[in-house]
Amino acid sequence: MSDKVIFFDTTLRDGEQCPGASMNLRQKLEVARQLEKLGVDVIEAGFPCISEGDYEAVHTIARTVKTCRVAGLARCVENDIRQAAAAVAPAGDRARIHVFLATSPLHREFKLKKSKEEILKMAVEGVKLAKSLVDDIEFSAEDASRTEHDYLAQVVEAVIDAGATTVNIPDTVGFTTPSEYYTIIKYLKDNVKNIDKAVISVHCHNDIGMAVANSLAAVQAGARQVEGTINGIGERAGNTAIEECAMALSTRPEPFGFAPGEKPHNLNTREIVKTSRVVSRMSGMLVQRSKAIVGENAFAHSSGIHQHGILAKRETYEIIDPAEVGWGETELPLTKHSGRAAVKARLERLGHTLSNDELTHVFERFKRVGDSKKFVYDDDLSSLVDDSIDTTNGTWRLANIQFIAGSGAMPTATVTLVKDDEEYTDCAIGNGPVNACFKAIDRITQVQGELVDYNVRATSIGQDALGEVSVKVQFGQCECKPVSGKGAATDVIEASARAYLNAVNRQITFSGIGA
Ligand code: KIV
Ligand code: ZN
Repeated sequence: MSDKVIFFDTTLRDGEQCPGASMNLRQKLEVARQLEKLGVDVIEAGFPCISEGDYEAVHTIARTVKTCRVAGLARCVENDIRQAAAAVAPAGDRARIHVFLATSPLHREFKLKKSKEEILKMAVEGVKLAKSLVDDIEFSAEDASRTEHDYLAQVVEAVIDAGATTVNIPDTVGFTTPSEYYTIIKYLKDNVKNIDKAVISVHCHNDIGMAVANSLAAVQAGARQVEGTINGIGERAGNTAIEECAMALSTRPEPFGFAPGEKPHNLNTREIVKTSRVVSRMSGMLVQRSKAIVGENAFAHSSGIHQHGILAKRETYEIIDPAEVGWGETELPLTKHSGRAAVKARLERLGHTLSNDELTHVFERFKRVGDSKKFVYDDDLSSLVDDSIDTTNGTWRLANIQFIAGSGAMPTATVTLVKDDEEYTDCAIGNGPVNACFKAIDRITQVQGELVDYNVRATSIGQDALGEVSVKVQFGQCECKPVSGKGAATDVIEASARAYLNAVNRQITFSGIGA
């Protein structure tokens, strides 16, 4: 079997369901553009009926993206399906509706309270309706891995007859194992009469750390679409990490039925590291240092024996050439003498496509950073993008910040913010300068946030490096997910204020509060 594996990226849908990973439209667009450069086959851009924001995001991405298919998720009900069809319409013949309905006994009995026959009928009717609106239809049997095999086969056969061109077999709760999942896919291949009329897709969650292994086992059994997210972000323990799955196939094509040298998928693997960084920045989800392929330590060899081996012959301890996935593509750092065009070009290479206003803002900050440190590295520059792209009307900008702190001093901060060209200044005391800054920001914005997580790290090397702060902030008492924010500056108190304000702005753009 040699037909290529299709990568279906759900970073903007299942990935975004990860607590603290919510992205606004601008951030989603940035991710979608980079996914297109990476060469994923399908972008699941959202779940159009769950909010106006999601609808807008799917619609805009469907308009913007030019090569990938764009999918919108829908429950198996008329309103969802019609909204998904309208949202993906601008993608033309690259539009896909992804309809899902649970099939397992647990979901049938306790969630849907429907019989097997009722579920089967709903699935067929949903797919038929979707097919009358869009040609490319994917059907997902939610919790498929815990569904009776014969019933799953019956549903799959019926939805293919109804017009589904991709049938997805999700391991919704990350419960299956590689051999079990292999058996399920093989069973469907052997027992569903019309299976050759559809692509078998797999969608794995990582609850017991097996999402990538399960997806690969399914490929061995004949699945030809793998769903996943960049950096493996997603609900609970996340989804299949696309970069890991792709590099497993590229590095070891033969165990998966591909000939040596044959390209098993369409990804441009050299874009992997860049994509990982764009997703991490836009979603606020940091990448673990030791994460396979994209973690900072993924290709770092510290033992002398390994270093010696690598120098003698790279392959002794390195199974992938780091350049293959886009490591080591850093160019000379910029300096305060670099002009706007150079900064723009570098940002583009780093995966950031900015509007003129956004570029002006980043460039102003770049100049200020360039005055206080000799070299501005790529990571420094990327970190300036985070709070420069939340510039829609009604969001806040940091204009000025002063604080007093030190042993024996009463930590006090005075903050000036700008909204819609008007300046607002206020001050507050706190138990430290960061706390005082956050309180001053709360007083001005009237948006009360509770800090639930705070991290600071250097974006590059040297004592003059930028400090990058990541925060997670809970707004209000509701069960809403915490909102993440990032900010960078040579001063970590200023970086903290920027990160907090970034979270406030995200909250404003999601909910309209304070706007
Ligand atoms: O995990 C799951 O089952 C899903 C479906 C909507 C495909 O995300
Ligand atoms: Zn899922």
